[in-house]
Amino acid sequence: MTMKKTTLALAAALLPLLAHAQDAQIESKVAALMKQMTVAEKVGQLHQISGRLVTGPTSSDYAATLADIRLGKVGSMLNVKGVADTRAIQALALQSRLHIPLLFGQDVIHGYRTVFPVPLGESASWDMEAIEQSAHIAAREAAAAGIHWTFAPMVDVARDPRWGRVMEGAGEDAFLGSAIARARVHGFQGKQLGATDSVMATAKHFAAYGAAVAGRDYNAVDMSNQQLFEVYLPPFKAALDAGAATFMNSFNTLNGIPATANVFLQRDILKNSWNFKGFVVSDWGSVREMVPHGYASDLADASVKAINAGSDMDMESYAHIKHLEDAVKSGKVNMKTLDDAVRRILYKKFELGLFDDPYRYSVASREKAVLADPSHRAAALDVAQKSLVLLKNGAAGAKPLPLSRAAQKIAVIGPLADARRDLEGGWVVEGDRAPVVSILEGIRSHAGKAEVSYAPACDNHCSGTEGFAEAVATASKADVVVLAVGETWDLSGEAKSRTDITLPGHQEQLFAALKATGKPIVVVMLAGRPLVFNTIAEQADAIVYAWFPGSEGGNAVANVLFGDYNPSAKLPITFPRSVGQIPLSYAQYNTGRPVTDEKNVVYKSAYIDSVNTPRYAFGHGLSYTDFKYSGLTISGKEMSPSQQVTLSFDLANTGKAEGTEIVQLYLRDMVASVVRPVKELKGFQKIHLQVGEQRRVSFTIDRELLSFFNSQLVWGAEAGDFKLMVGSASDDSRLEGALKLLPPK
Ligand code: NOJ
Repeated sequence: MTMKKTTLALAAALLPLLAHAQDAQIESKVAALMKQMTVAEKVGQLHQISGRLVTGPTSSDYAATLADIRLGKVGSMLNVKGVADTRAIQALALQSRLHIPLLFGQDVIHGYRTVFPVPLGESASWDMEAIEQSAHIAAREAAAAGIHWTFAPMVDVARDPRWGRVMEGAGEDAFLGSAIARARVHGFQGKQLGATDSVMATAKHFAAYGAAVAGRDYNAVDMSNQQLFEVYLPPFKAALDAGAATFMNSFNTLNGIPATANVFLQRDILKNSWNFKGFVVSDWGSVREMVPHGYASDLADASVKAINAGSDMDMESYAHIKHLEDAVKSGKVNMKTLDDAVRRILYKKFELGLFDDPYRYSVASREKAVLADPSHRAAALDVAQKSLVLLKNGAAGAKPLPLSRAAQKIAVIGPLADARRDLEGGWVVEGDRAPVVSILEGIRSHAGKAEVSYAPACDNHCSGTEGFAEAVATASKADVVVLAVGETWDLSGEAKSRTDITLPGHQEQLFAALKATGKPIVVVMLAGRPLVFNTIAEQADAIVYAWFPGSEGGNAVANVLFGDYNPSAKLPITFPRSVGQIPLSYAQYNTGRPVTDEKNVVYKSAYIDSVNTPRYAFGHGLSYTDFKYSGLTISGKEMSPSQQVTLSFDLANTGKAEGTEIVQLYLRDMVASVVRPVKELKGFQKIHLQVGEQRRVSFTIDRELLSFFNSQLVWGAEAGDFKLMVGSASDDSRLEGALKLLPPK
C-alpha cells in the first residue's frame, strides 16, 4: 500500500469514531443546556411560528411573536427569509435568557431564487444526479439567504392526479420514489449538516397523505398495512437512510387516527423500529386540527396527544406553548417525553453550528454572490430538458419533431405560450426570483432562419374565445403550429384538488379550431399533474409534456422542439383516460378475472364504457431515435436465497440521433402468500448511445429484490417462479425471462 492509500484507509476507519465522538460531544452540550432550562423554556423550543409570509390559515399575531421570541418562547420560525430579516429576528432570540438561536425553516420545494421544474417534473428525468444537483442548488441559495431547513422532499407516493399535490412528489412508484427521496435528501443536506451550502431536509408527510380519499386534499386515508408498508413507507425509509434530519407528519387520519397523534407511525415505526434520531415537526396546524377531526377534545388535549405520540415540534397550532407546561405539571405528559423532544431539536441546532455562530447562514456577501451565480441557471436548464416527456411524435412514419430551423413559418399559439409565472409552478418562495424564459421567447431565440409568429388566442385560463379567429388566421399562414396549453401554476399544489382534470377553459376548443386549419400541430402542455386530454392525445401531431419547467423552461422547451436536446424523460406517474379510472397504477393486481382481450370483457374486471389501459403508462416517453433491445441472458435459471443472478441484454441506438434511453426492469412474483402486482419496477438505468452504438446492459437480481412484506409484515422473498421483464415503459416490455427462487436449504 502506498503512503497515500494508507492514510486514506486510516481516515476512513477513523471517520465513524470521529462521528461518534462528535455525537457524544453534542449530547453532552445539549444535556448541559437542558439542565439550565425551565419547563417553559423547554416548551418554547417546540413552538414554531410563521413570519409574515403565510403558507396556511394562520392565527399568529406577528408583534406578539416577536415579543415571545425575546422571552425564549419560540424555537423556530418558518417563512422568514433573507439575510437582513433572519439576522434581525435571530438577534431577538439571542436576547432571551439562555440565548438559544432560532431555526429558520422554509418550503424550498424546487428552487429558491432559481426555479427548477416542479418535483414531479424532475422525477420524469429519472436522473438521480440531476435531481440531487437541483436540490443542492436550491439548498445553496436558501442557505445563503439565512435558511437552515427546508420542508422537502415530499416523498408521498401519489396515485390520484385529482390530488393537487402530486406535483410535489416523485409520482406513483415506491422504487423510483425511494431513489428520488435519497437523491433529494443528499442534495439538500450535502455531505454534512452545518455546511453553509446545505440545509436540513424534511421527509414529509408522514404518512400516507398521498392517498387521501377521492383525491381531496386533507381528506382521511384508509389503507391496509400491506399497502402502507409496501408502497407508501419505502420512500420515507429511503429518506431516513439517506440521513434526513427531520420528518413532518401529516394532516390526514390513517385508519381513523390522525398522523399527528399516531403512535404506530411516529413511535413504533419511525422512532423505535427505524431508530430515527432527528425530530418530527407537525404539519401546519395539524395539532390543532385534531379537534375538528374528532380525536382531541380541545387544544390542550391535542397537545398531549401529539407529543405523547412522538410529534416533537408544533407548527402554528399554539398547542404546546399554551398548554404543554400544565400538562407536564399535571402528569399527562412525562418530563422524559418533553425532554426527548427538546433534546432532538437542540441537537440539530448544535449540529448546524448555530450555538457557535447563530448568524453563520446569514452573511450578506454570500447571499449576494450565491444568488447571482450563473451556473445555477445552467443546471436549471439541464434538469428542465431532462424532464420534458415526448408523449407522442406523429403517426407511423411522419414525425413532426424535431422542428426545422430552415426558412419556414412557425406559429406559436396559446394562452401559456408567453406565460412566465405559469412556468414556475406552485410552491416557489415569494420575493426576488430569477427571471423566467417563456416558451415563445425560447422558441424565438432558437428558431434560426424560421420565422416565428404569435397569437395568445385567450387569457391564461382561456376563459373566452374572442381571440380564436386571430389565432386561426395566424396558424393558417404558418407551416407548423406550436400550441402551448395546460394548467396555470395555481391549479396544482396544496389545496388544489380538482374533480375535473381536463384542460381548463376553452383550450380543447382552441385545439379543434387550429386542427381544422390542417396544419401540423405540436402541443406543449404545462401542468403539475397528469391531465386528461383525449382529443389532443388522438389528434395532435406531437405532444411534449413540460410540467412546470421552471426559470429556464422556455429554453428547455425550445431545445427539445428543435432537437438540440433529444428527449429522454419517462412518466413517473400513470396518465388516465378519464377521472373514472382513478386511482390507476401500472402496479395493479391481476384479479381473478383479468382482461385478456379488450373486445371481450363480459364478466371480466373491466368497465363497460372504457378500456382498462391508461392513456399513457408509467415509464412511457419517446425519443427522436430508436432503441433496440436484444440478446437477453440470465446467468442462472434458478437461484438459492444467498445467490444472485445477472440479467443482461444489448441495447442499440438504431435511429438517426444520439440519445438516452431509460431502460426499466420489472418483475412479477407469480405465486405468493400475498398476491403480487402484475409488474413492479425493480431497476432502471439511463443509457446514452451514439448513433449505431450498442451496449450490454446488466442488472443484478438478488433475494432482496424479490422480497416483499408478507401478511405478518415480515420482509422476505418466497421460493417460486418470477417473471422478469425489461423494456422502455411499463406497457412496452421488450424482453422477458424467468427465474426460480429455490427454498432455503
Ligand atoms: C402545509 C403543507 O402541508 C406542508 O407541506 C408545508 O411544509 C407547510 N404547510 C408549511 O408551509
